[in-house]
Amino acid sequence: MFLQDHWYVAAMRSEVGSTPLRRVILGRPVVLYRTPDGAAAALEDRCIHRQVPLSMGTVEADGTLQCLYHGIKFNRAGKCTFIPEQTRIPQSAQIKSYVVAEHAEWLWLWTGDPARADPSLIPAYPWFTQPGWKARTGYLHVKCSYKFIVDNLLNMAHLPYVHPRTIGSDGVIKDAKVSVTRKGNDVRLARKMYDIEPPPTYKKAGGFEGNVNRWQTIDFMGPSSFEFHTGVIEVGHEPPLPGIDQPRSNARILDRHSMHSMTPETETSTNYFVGFTYDPKACSEDLADFIFDQTFATFKEDVVILEAQQTNMDMMPGEKPLDIVSDAAGLQALKVIEELELAQEARRGSTYYTAS
Ligand code: FES
Ligand SMILES: [Fe+2]
Repeated sequence: MFLQDHWYVAAMRSEVGSTPLRRVILGRPVVLYRTPDGAAAALEDRCIHRQVPLSMGTVEADGTLQCLYHGIKFNRAGKCTFIPEQTRIPQSAQIKSYVVAEHAEWLWLWTGDPARADPSLIPAYPWFTQPGWKARTGYLHVKCSYKFIVDNLLNMAHLPYVHPRTIGSDGVIKDAKVSVTRKGNDVRLARKMYDIEPPPTYKKAGGFEGNVNRWQTIDFMGPSSFEFHTGVIEVGHEPPLPGIDQPRSNARILDRHSMHSMTPETETSTNYFVGFTYDPKACSEDLADFIFDQTFATFKEDVVILEAQQTNMDMMPGEKPLDIVSDAAGLQALKVIEELELAQEARRGSTYYTAS
């Protein structure tokens, strides 16, 4: 089952231009493109004639998307506007169009009933819209359910084992003060670790020699978006609160504000978007590149584990997993998803639900 009535990241804005881009979202092919005036559009990636992907076609000067095969054209609303060798356009010559919105670094797609596409429901990601700040963004295709990634991002016990070369160290699990809170569809995992050895990435990026205080505040926004606030600060100083309006510490500090957002491709594969934002006045371009490269390398280590997990789960679908203490936040998030799925099922049985 896919949760339909949500905003999902379809692409990084920089990926979408006049060359059509195909992406499979919630099990359906979608073509993303920009019309000559720069506006983004999203249609079902399927010509009404012989089902050829429209992403193989071209965006015309008049803003229509023309099929590569026999030349049929569609406007951004999915309505056919031209059929070669005939003047009559049948009423049924219409493909599905999606509501899109551009926010921060991403192009968002509403997959449910267009009447309920409220842009205020898009994750705000305020750190990514601060004037003067910059961002690094990336995309990973992962052959596992998005739920495994949600579970992964909320259980930090994997850091010393999967990421010892970057963000993992023993201190991250030995002495952490942990809290898990839920509010509506949001779950916060807050962890603070005092007087621990910094992990390799922080040592290299921040030049920390001795021990540090470290924090991880991870905000899950159901069903599949995250905001991460993480960093290290000199021993003797309290980790900062995650809010964007908090005063900056004068202590030696390396703090990071990043996002993760998962868009299901199929039940067992995921479009995984990541990004982090930085203030160029406090972080050089070289340092931003270094942090992003380390971060991306870290995610690729997770992908190896997650895909192996999916392979095993496919082979043994009936096996019940054992939950451990460090699963607490992940279990809360999966409960949010389960509740959203049940609510959607209930709506399907009611009269107002019209999503496909
Ligand atoms: S398949 Fe698109 S025009 Fe024929
Ligand atoms: Fe990880």
